[in-house]
Amino acid sequence: MTLTTTKNVRDYAIESPQTIPVFEKLGIDFCCGGNRPLDEVCAAANLNLDEVLRALESATAEPVRPSDRELRSGSLAELISHIVRTHHAFVRAQIPEIERLLDKVHSKHGANHAELTPIRDVFHGLGQELMLHLMKEENILFPYIERMEESGVQREPILPPPFGTVANPVRMMEHEHDDAGAALRSLRKTSGDYTPPADACTSFRALYTALANFERDLHQHIHLENNVLFPRAQEMETKHQGT
Ligand SMILES: [Fe+2]
Ligand SMILES: [Fe+2]
Repeated sequence: MTLTTTKNVRDYAIESPQTIPVFEKLGIDFCCGGNRPLDEVCAAANLNLDEVLRALESATAEPVRPSDRELRSGSLAELISHIVRTHHAFVRAQIPEIERLLDKVHSKHGANHAELTPIRDVFHGLGQELMLHLMKEENILFPYIERMEESGVQREPILPPPFGTVANPVRMMEHEHDDAGAALRSLRKTSGDYTPPADACTSFRALYTALANFERDLHQHIHLENNVLFPRAQEMETKHQGT
């Protein structure tokens, strides 16, 4: 892949998923706000562009894992199944687990660590929003995309969706992704980049590790939807309409 400073961050992530850990490490948003050129993003974050390019270069020298390649070139049904089986399942399993840890750590250390109250409240709001979000994707948007793809294979016309065009629910999902991204940024800031305080007990440390893992997974999840699934679904719909 060509490394250019004016290429958008999300295009790096799409073309070379090996660059994603580099962006994660540097705190560069490649999913919701990834539609910005690398040089601009580095300037805004005070990052040395040459160093970032070197890190990206060594990441792209690594071979692409077969699963990443398949996710980009396989069927949309396979991509959806991957998203639901891995990322949706992870979100559903982690929310109650993190809530439990948050309640425990907050009741024990909340008095000495005021940051735990906003962290608990923001995560609680994020968890509730995400549960609804997953339901909307699984019950409305994803089944439509799967039906549309199946109609293409069978060369049958697709029934017009109740929401007019796939662009409408996609826009709504992207908006909800932006809100989730803002909640993650707030959690990271309030927790000092998930750095446990010196007096943190094991549960406190486990909580910050779990929140950091939750963030990493959600970034990857939103990236697959915003930057791979949704554009491919919209492209497929346009192609269908033209036939
Ligand atoms: Fe999702
Ligand atoms: Fe989503």
